[in-house]
Amino acid sequence: MKKILVTGGAGYIGSHTCKALSKAGMEPIVFDNLVLGHQWAVKWGGLEVGDLLDRDRIVDVAKKVRPEGVIHFAGHSCVGESVSDPAKYWRNNVAGTINLLDALVYINSPPVVFSSSCTVYGITDVDLISENVAVEPINPYGETKRAVEIMLKDYEVAADLRHIVLRYFNAAGSDADAEIGELHNPETHLIPLAIASAAGDMKALKIFGTDYSTADGTCVRDYIHVTDLADAHVRALNYLLDGGDSNLFNLGAGVGYSVREVVDAVGRIVGSPVPTEPSVRRPGDPTRLVADTGHAREILHWEPVNSDLDNIVATAWRWYQMRKQVLSRPGLGADKLDVS
Ligand code: UD1
Repeated sequence: MKKILVTGGAGYIGSHTCKALSKAGMEPIVFDNLVLGHQWAVKWGGLEVGDLLDRDRIVDVAKKVRPEGVIHFAGHSCVGESVSDPAKYWRNNVAGTINLLDALVYINSPPVVFSSSCTVYGITDVDLISENVAVEPINPYGETKRAVEIMLKDYEVAADLRHIVLRYFNAAGSDADAEIGELHNPETHLIPLAIASAAGDMKALKIFGTDYSTADGTCVRDYIHVTDLADAHVRALNYLLDGGDSNLFNLGAGVGYSVREVVDAVGRIVGSPVPTEPSVRRPGDPTRLVADTGHAREILHWEPVNSDLDNIVATAWRWYQMRKQVLSRPGLGADKLDVS
């Protein structure tokens, strides 16, 4: 069985990808410091607890595991926090990646799939964003993703490190079996917050900006189901394992929904309207971000088959209802988590 090292594999997208790797007959070995990730979400292979800032530790793990491929999720991803604490982002996302790539060079450069973000495009007025759109991040988080993309190219020249960069749009939804799901602390994402509001567990959802130049005045985003993202990672990895060249793909559903449209879908699926409150724009939010998905469809033969908005919300809602039960099982390491 092919061993795949998955940094950040205890996190939201990482854990869904481990499940997909296992289904595809591979063995995911998670490397995670468990600061943002959850021990209970590591279910499909081994766990090596460690921090990418600990260079010796990642070198040891790389030498011990000798993976045939690597998927690199580990990092921080909150835009606002990256503005107030840029050092945290440059240190974890960039310095941590240098340690990882150096460790991989010691073991003959297994191919790497890297999780980047549509945030690298910054503010663009393009209707559908293809991979050819200029990259101009507007926050430190996006800058760190761009820096790693550049770093990967340099390591390829110097050490034959083939890689695929995946630029996600808005990851959302949860595993159809509700074995794992989205759980951030604090939660900042639209869909889980709208669900918490509709369920009466949170006050009114703030709508950040109602005067954007969109049909209903709220921001438009491209929501992509986490299971479709996981599938894209497996395809990208197989592409590299089959000898494919380095490449770059946008991963979205290719359809844009406004904040109000998402809120309406949540109200309909939860069966109770989301209480909302208009609020000021959130700094750094572009008006519209929707992917042109043609490249991933053509080269990876990938289709975002789970990303219908109602399915995204329905799976997120199911996880929201199930998670206390899932996380209260003994021995999951989840006893200290506040999931209220
Ligand atoms: C952002 C990043 C993305 C990153 C993700 C992780 C950009 C363009 N995207 O996604 O790369 O991986 O964060 O944190 O920087 N909203 C509300 N009220 C709320 C919460 C959100 O109105 O309480 C709105 C936001 O203004 C936005 C939309 O909902 O228009 C989606 O927001 P969110 O779920 O936070 O994701 P992004 O900010 O789009």
